[in-house]
Amino acid sequence: MTETRRSDRRRSVTQEVTAARFRAQGPRRPSPPSARAQCCRAGRAPAAIELPPLPYADNALDPYISANTIGYHYGKHHKAYVDNVNKLIAGTEYADMPLEKIVAATAGNAEKQAIFNNAAQVWNHTFYWKSMKPKGGGAPPKALAAKIDAAFGELRRVQEGLHRRRGHAVRQRLGVARASRTASSRS
Ligand SMILES: [Fe+2]
Repeated sequence: MTETRRSDRRRSVTQEVTAARFRAQGPRRPSPPSARAQCCRAGRAPAAIELPPLPYADNALDPYISANTIGYHYGKHHKAYVDNVNKLIAGTEYADMPLEKIVAATAGNAEKQAIFNNAAQVWNHTFYWKSMKPKGGGAPPKALAAKIDAAFGELRRVQEGLHRRRGHAVRQRLGVARASRTASSRS
């Protein structure tokens, strides 16, 4: 299969997975106004975009992701993006929007790139935490496995490729650490 056809298939798998997720949610009902929208209508200052709680303890994914790494990406990155976006949207047309709307409203607008970057990173980090769980993993449902096979080749080979790449990245990091230790012991 050519790389172009494979990449078309990957795109179509992503679209189908998204569509299936929306279908599984059933018909969309209008959602009640958010706490932020309600307080704006009542003339009060809008509540800030909040840092959502981690869906598990910070050591729950050990040994795959350590508490230290989670602390870094949650306690530092995620929190910093939340703080930044709140500063950037204060007093603007985005101040009473939910996060997803801020991302959609600022995408592709060069003047609003800082708001977009920070809001999108809040969303990305939240999505990332929700994509994992302690003792997760295992085989995907049959229909999804078939689509992964069709788009990427056999699932087992994809997993092996990811393990190899992870091993390579770890080896590279260890090499850099060793090299810097050697350099500092010489100085
Ligand atoms: Fe991060």
